[in-house]
Amino acid sequence: MKTGIKNKNIILGVCGGIAAYKSVELLRLLKKQGADVRVIMTKNALEFVGPMTFEALSGHAVCKDLFADTDDASIKHIEWASAADAVVIAPATANIIGKCANGIADDALSTFMLAVTSPVLLCPSMNTNMYLSRPVQKNLETLASYGYVIAEPGAGELACGTSGPGRLPDPPEILDRLTGCLTPKDLKDKKILITAGPTREAIDPVRFISNPSSGKMGYAVARAAEHRGASVVLITGPVNLPDPMNVTVVKVTSAQEMASVVFDYMEQSDVIVKTAAVSDFRPKEPAKQKIKKGDKDEATLFLVKNQDILKELGRRKKDHQILVGFAAETEELERNAGKKLEEKNLDMIAGNLVNHPGSGFATDTNQVTLFHRNGTKEPLSAMGKDEIAHILLDRVLDKIILLDRVLDKIKAQF
Ligand code: CTP
Repeated sequence: MKTGIKNKNIILGVCGGIAAYKSVELLRLLKKQGADVRVIMTKNALEFVGPMTFEALSGHAVCKDLFADTDDASIKHIEWASAADAVVIAPATANIIGKCANGIADDALSTFMLAVTSPVLLCPSMNTNMYLSRPVQKNLETLASYGYVIAEPGAGELACGTSGPGRLPDPPEILDRLTGCLTPKDLKDKKILITAGPTREAIDPVRFISNPSSGKMGYAVARAAEHRGASVVLITGPVNLPDPMNVTVVKVTSAQEMASVVFDYMEQSDVIVKTAAVSDFRPKEPAKQKIKKGDKDEATLFLVKNQDILKELGRRKKDHQILVGFAAETEELERNAGKKLEEKNLDMIAGNLVNHPGSGFATDTNQVTLFHRNGTKEPLSAMGKDEIAHILLDRVLDKIILLDRVLDKIKAQF
């Protein structure tokens, strides 16, 4: 699936609010992702930020006025609306929300909005009482019923001194929501369980056995699945990543904890993707107090095996469930990954050589080969983990469609 912001025509609407400065950063992020962005500013927005910054960053003149002498803005709004792949209004004030909900077209942005047919992401930002007021809430409900996507404002201390919902989400969050708006919902109604990150096995209260897994691959799969409309549960070991939006995140530490939560969620899941780097062993009896080095020159750790969570999932797997594993290897990728696919009863395994540059733990890119149940293998070129996540989900979707057909045929026989 071709997803993402790259090469998309995005219209950024900026209204008059304290948070207007954040839309400059949003524009920078959109450009960095390869979008072509045009900016429409309301008159009040110009009181907060000058158009020059937006013009310099977008490379296009900003549309501020339907009747400007200097440009053909009066027809531009129609052209821009028909060329737009998506529209984001950030910050969206009570005023533009009211106008859009009621079909009022009295300036460049509100007039443009009536001509838009692409997905719209609205990012409300205002004083808490204004945001929670009945007219604004009613207008937001109306807009949601028209298909607008509303980015929930953050809660916290606002510029006006009040505390509560009304804060414009940070630009990376808006970018994430916009990416979701541009992604077809081909996994709608599917329940996907993903594990990510390392596990930690306690030696004593201040030490543990672990591995360098950053969780990036699993988090990328969770974000991609959520963008594609799935209901996502992410069970993660300790990592340093922000929670993906709109995803149920369960944080665990040890392999035993991970196993117990995974088994709790297993039955209700249509798809399970196990990217987690689970510790194979744990200290038999973690010390209750910090182990002192004393005058010993050597020490021995007694380890016991952790349960292989994926193998157990493979044993319990029902016909309608798709199970995907990951294999991090240092040699003989095909043989090792193939063995895991077979022994753990998987539908697919993504294997990679962790000792290759640009591949493996903590990197933003990876080079994986997908091994399928029917014996085919699919080597992918080195690419970003977000892209890999989408290809992996494309293959999962193919398997779901195939499985549905088979199960329908079986049902028809009875
Ligand atoms: N896995 C698991 N539970 C374990 C170990 C691994 O669920 N106790 C899962 C991982 O999440 C991954 C797959 O099994 O999806 C392969 O993990 P990997 O660490 O590559 O291999 P192992 O099965 O542990 O085998 P080995 O250590 O011998 O390579």
